[in-house]
Amino acid sequence: PTVTYIDPDGTKHEVEVAPGKRVMQAAIAAGIDGIVAECGGQAMCATCHVYVEGPWAEKFPPVSEEEDEMLDDTVSPRTDASRLSCQLVVTDEVDGLIVRLPEDQV
Ligand code: FES
Repeated sequence: PTVTYIDPDGTKHEVEVAPGKRVMQAAIAAGIDGIVAECGGQAMCATCHVYVEGPWAEKFPPVSEEEDEMLDDTVSPRTDASRLSCQLVVTDEVDGLIVRLPEDQV
């Protein structure tokens, strides 16, 4: 599946991601600066915050209680589209996924 990460300034990074990888892992592997992921994917840092675009948002499992708590601690404002990218597993179902990167992670 293809995932497109969009920087706050509109720059797009299109990345081919193997199914089963996390949206966060794929960004780190691709050298995308907008995701920091300090805790390494344990839903404990909120520095992997992304905004998931419209039609894809509902294709992911809902926000867990743990994720919900961390999303209250994001540096950039939380919106209805906010997710922790370490909690998002890429599958064929989300091919074409677009996530926007927040202004700041730390
Ligand atoms: Fe830390 Fe996602 S990498 S919460």
